[in-house]
Amino acid sequence: MRIDKLLSELGLCTRREAAKIAKSGSIMVDGTVVKDVSKHIDPEKNCVTFLGREVVYQKYTYVMLNKPEGYVSATDDKSLPYVTELLPEELRRRELFPVGRLDRDTVGLMILTNNGPLAHSLLSPKHHVKKEYYFTSAEPLDSGAEEAFKVGITLADGYECKPAELYLEDNRREGRIVLTEGKYHQIKRMIASRDNRVTSLERISFGGISLDPSLLRGEWRYLTDEEIALLEKQVN
Ligand code: URA
Repeated sequence: MRIDKLLSELGLCTRREAAKIAKSGSIMVDGTVVKDVSKHIDPEKNCVTFLGREVVYQKYTYVMLNKPEGYVSATDDKSLPYVTELLPEELRRRELFPVGRLDRDTVGLMILTNNGPLAHSLLSPKHHVKKEYYFTSAEPLDSGAEEAFKVGITLADGYECKPAELYLEDNRREGRIVLTEGKYHQIKRMIASRDNRVTSLERISFGGISLDPSLLRGEWRYLTDEEIALLEKQVN
């Protein structure tokens, strides 16, 4: 891999900046100053230092974001705020994208990565990855709702949802729903099938990873090694 590609992929600088910094003698490979950033190195074997610091190579990056209301689940949008705007520049350069979508008015756990194959597998219907949501509804849910979710709700367009779990609070106006699929507006449409309406929706876990309670809306952190392993386990 070219040195400038490595540095820009890691979000440390742009390729153009890498060329300038190299000319000043601030890039070394295995202890030797390298002024030509088109030189190829093996990031797994060679030791690269950049501005005096050792470069730690990671093929992929994984973060969790506490998505706020009003943001679209996208990496770009002409008119609306989008989730990757909430990440710092160095991470945006790493070209992370959201694993699955949340509606603009849904908040909570969103995982972003640049590991395309893993993201694709996590979203594949064949792996039944669990997603858990906390919702509130306009009216208390009817007495048959839990059983209907367990059997599989039929949506207005005739789609038969996979069996899902519904755990209601005593007031029956709020609770948790666990899905193993992710159709467009799925929870809103499931609740609508009970002649009711979702008034707020938050994703609280994905693939066994829970939203970190220390993250405020709009804040993010890297996934831990254990969380990454948990994601990989979902699809292996
Ligand atoms: N179901 C919905 O209706 N909206 C979401 O954002 C996620 C699940």
